Amino acid sequence: MRARAEDLRRDGRKLAVVPTMGALHEGHLTLLRAARARADIVILTLFVNPTQFGPKEDLSKYPRDEAGDLAKARSCGIDLAFCPDVSAMYPAGAQTFVEVRELQQPMCGASRPGHFAGVATIVTKLFHLTMPHLAVFGEKDYQQLAIIRRMVRDLDFGIEIVSVPIVREHDGLALSSRNAYLSGEQRPAALALSRGLAAAEARFRAGERDAAALIAAARAPLEAEPLVRIDYVELRDATELTAVAQITRPVVLALAAFVGTTRLIDNRVLASA
Ligand code: PAJ
Repeated sequence: MRARAEDLRRDGRKLAVVPTMGALHEGHLTLLRAARARADIVILTLFVNPTQFGPKEDLSKYPRDEAGDLAKARSCGIDLAFCPDVSAMYPAGAQTFVEVRELQQPMCGASRPGHFAGVATIVTKLFHLTMPHLAVFGEKDYQQLAIIRRMVRDLDFGIEIVSVPIVREHDGLALSSRNAYLSGEQRPAALALSRGLAAAEARFRAGERDAAALIAAARAPLEAEPLVRIDYVELRDATELTAVAQITRPVVLALAAFVGTTRLIDNRVLASA
């Protein structure tokens, strides 16, 4: 992979990478199209990264369909796909990890210890191997995006990070590879996540600036849904992810909830016009 990337860079081509764990959906394809619009060479990486899954998480059952993924990606005009296996990425004895100390602590970091060290480490490795000028990530994984931006800045990666807004189903559910786990009964219940965010945003637009009131508004639809169990609902500074009591600058309202055993996340940035 690196030899190819070095050749392409020597030829003066602009390289973009889109890291994914596969099970590609329209959200991923939107990232690929954003890359296609900005670079000469679009590299898709497909790797279900074991170090970002906790011991009780869904690593073994994570949906995998490499042939289907490559067909979808080809329709977006990718140039290269990098699909390493686990032993290639983590040779025996691997013991070096990248951590973004503060940003990795709250929100998903609190419920998934070690998750973001796994993400930051694999993204570092994928950047070193694909040598991109730019990389595209989705705003769906808001904390992940904040962590990668900070890592790139702090460690002088010299890679432009491009973000793409959350792609949703027509009814509002944020697209996720994990939506495939939802049963027919759970699928409508999962709408409580986007409904909670919409309810809070409506209060914000109406002038509410108190974090506790906005969080309560977001929690109500989730609490009303028996199939949903809240993991967290938090309102935090949009860049530093620090807790905010009264909104005076852009914030992110972020939540995670279990629908049955499936953990889903969603978020919305609240900023005054
Ligand atoms: P994965 O969950 O496959 O997501 C790959 C990329 O697609 C991420 O940047 C994610 O934010 C984006 N994405 C997923 N659903 C989206 C949606 N509905 N709208 C917009 N973008 C969406 O995130 C990961 O993989 C991994 O942690 C990875 C970065 C590849 C490291 O292993």
